[in-house]
Formats: sequence, structure tokens, C-alpha cells
Amino acid sequence: MGACWSHGIEAVTPSYTGFNSKNVSRDRNDMSSSSGKLSSASMPMTPRSEGEVFQACNLKNFVFRELKMATKNFRPDSVLGEGGFGSVFKGWIDEKTLKATKPGTGIMIAVKRLNQQGLQGHKEWLAEINYLGQLHHPNLVKLIGYCIEDEHRLLIYEFMPKGSMEGHLFGRGSHFQPLSWHLRMKVALGAAKGLAFLHNNESKVIYRDFKTSNILLDSDYNAKLSDFGLARDGPIGNKSHVSSRVLGTLGYAAPEYLVTGHLTFKTDVYSFGVVLLEMLSGQRSIDKNRPSGQHNLVQWAKPYLASKRKIFRVLDNRLEGQYSPDQAQKAAKLALQCLALEPRNRPIMNDVVKALEELQEPPRS
Ligand SMILES: Nc1ncnc2c1ncn2[C@@H]1O[C@H](COP(=O)(O)OP(=O)(O)OP(=O)(O)O)[C@@H](O)[C@H]1O
Ligand SMILES: [Mg+2]
Repeated sequence: MGACWSHGIEAVTPSYTGFNSKNVSRDRNDMSSSSGKLSSASMPMTPRSEGEVFQACNLKNFVFRELKMATKNFRPDSVLGEGGFGSVFKGWIDEKTLKATKPGTGIMIAVKRLNQQGLQGHKEWLAEINYLGQLHHPNLVKLIGYCIEDEHRLLIYEFMPKGSMEGHLFGRGSHFQPLSWHLRMKVALGAAKGLAFLHNNESKVIYRDFKTSNILLDSDYNAKLSDFGLARDGPIGNKSHVSSRVLGTLGYAAPEYLVTGHLTFKTDVYSFGVVLLEMLSGQRSIDKNRPSGQHNLVQWAKPYLASKRKIFRVLDNRLEGQYSPDQAQKAAKLALQCLALEPRNRPIMNDVVKALEELQEPPRS
């Protein structure tokens, strides 16, 4: 899941190499904390203090004991996945009272339990509550509650039965069937709508961690964004960007952001382009197992995306026969626009949504 920093992106060479974490930072102080997300998330959207964050959101404050019961004591066979912050467990609660129920009764939940390493990640945990406690949209995952007790930090979400887009694109084994072209376009549209909602005038939030593992899928493959630990309020007034330390996941961050630390809505658009390219190609943005010259998907694929005749070299061969040449060209063009080196040449997410809406139809035969 993690990618190696030393591969860089586009022509960007970071000021240091060998930072072997999925999350990147230019701040030397951060290099000491080698696992998980680094603690620099902001506390945005008006409320600032911990108490204010809890008050502003309408979420249940769970008791740890209750979550232990709901997840069968965090048993390994309840694990849904592992991330940089900790593990995610399956659990069961009563829909009305939100009390733990016997497994198999009530509703299913996903419980994210932070690793207890000196409370690293507390800020991101709080940022998640701050954002998901206030932002509600069909394409954002629903946060049901949280737990803060001694050193324990947990987040309780609606359960997403089809897991993450990462699993469907890159998962191995019979559990994951390759997603069809139609479903990939559906997921891309849902995720684009989620980002467009975050960017709109009411929310004005930069997501900063757009990647396939953060796109979760419900039973109908509706996409929902999760993980707002790195999200930030967008620029206000006549400011064009917000400055920040460089955080995010290797292979997805926009080149200008890596160089300057300037965050804009267009930083997310670039990451969207990377994900769209991963969906079209069925390949990870960075993969050292590919032949040399192909480790960085964006660098390798860009020239092909720009050529009508060569797009097919990039497209996932598991998709053969499922799209028309016109659809392939439109999707490739959109990915290319999102991946423009100049942020101003990238589309805004509302336009990405429009372009993807046109790609939802089955191909005319
Ligand atoms: N609400 C949920 N419903 C079902 N599965 C979930 C849910 N939330 C997370 N998961 C599963 O748990 C995995 C780990 O999620 P987590 O967000 O902790 O890490 P990640 O996104 O894979 O990596 P990172 O730490 O870089 O964000 C996900 O990839 C997904 O498979
Ligand atoms: Mg995640």
C-alpha cells in the first residue's frame, strides 16, 4: 500500500530521499515519526478547541467497553483493513440506541482504532470528527461517533460493504473480481461529486488525501470519501492558496504542492487525475515491480493519453470490449487535464463531474 518517496513525481526531486512511509512530509522534524500520518492536521471549520469540535458535531460519544463488545474484543477476524493510523474492525450496534449488539443483529459498523503510539494521530482523529461531524453528503462516508477514553482514540463509521476502491482495483484473489468499465466510471463520478462538494462555496475544504484506499463503496458501488485527517480549510478572501507542510500519500500529490507546500483546490484535482488514471489502467500510481521507466504511472502514461492511437496501451486490458473508442478518449483526456502541470490548466471539480456524467452511458453498439 505504501509507496517509496525516492521515486518522486514528475520532475520533482524532493529535498531528501528514502522516507519510507506512505505519508510524506518536507519538514525534517517529521522524519522522526516514521509511521502513520504525521501530526500536522489543522483544526478548521470554525470550532477550534477539542470541546468545541465535540459540541459542533452531532455524534455519539461511545464508551470503549461498548466498542470492545461490538467488535468481539477487536478480534483479528473482525479486521476489515489496516491503515497508517491503525486497524479498522467490523462491529454491530443497535440502529436506534447505538448500543453494542450481538454480532449478526442490528447494523454493521466499521470501527477505526488508532495505534496507541504516544497519541500520535490525535490531531488527525480530531480533524476527522471536525469535518465529518459537520459535512454531510451522499458521497462522504457517514461518521456515527467517536471514542476518547484514556489513551484510546476510535472512530465509528457506517459500514461500507464493498470495501475500498483500492481493494477492487489492486486486490488479489477470488474475493475481488475486476471492476467493469461502467462501475469504474460510476465510482469515479461519485468520488468526483464528493470532492466537488468539499470544494464548493459552502464547504471550501481541501481534502488533501485523495487516493483509492480512501474511496469506500456501498453495496451499489456508490463511492464515499473517507479519512479527513489531513483535510484543511481552503483559502479565504482573495488568497489563492493555504501554506502547509507537505503531507499526503506518495504518488498522488501535485508536483507544485511538493515543491512549494501551497495547497489549493487544484491540488485535489491533480490527485483525482492520478486516481482516474489508476482506474483506467488498473495500475498503481507507483509500482517498483514494473519495468524501469514505468515505475511512475503518470510519467509513463501521459504521452500515451495524449495520443488517440496509443491510449489503448494504458487502458486496463481486463476492460477490453467494454468501452467505445470515444469513451476511452474522453476519459483519457479528462485524466490528462486533471494532471496538467500548471494548476490553472486543470479543470474545477464541477467540470470533472460534468465530464464524467457524460461517460455513464453504456457504449452505443
Ligand atoms: N467504513 C468502512 N467500511 C468498510 N471498510 C472500511 C471502512 N473504513 C475503512 N475500511 C477498510 O479498512 C481499510 C483501512 O482503512 P484506513 O483508512 O485506516 O487506511 P487506508 O485508507 O488504507 O490507508 P491510510 O492510512 O493511508 O488512509 C480500508 O482500505 C478499507 O478496506
Ligand atoms: Mg483511509
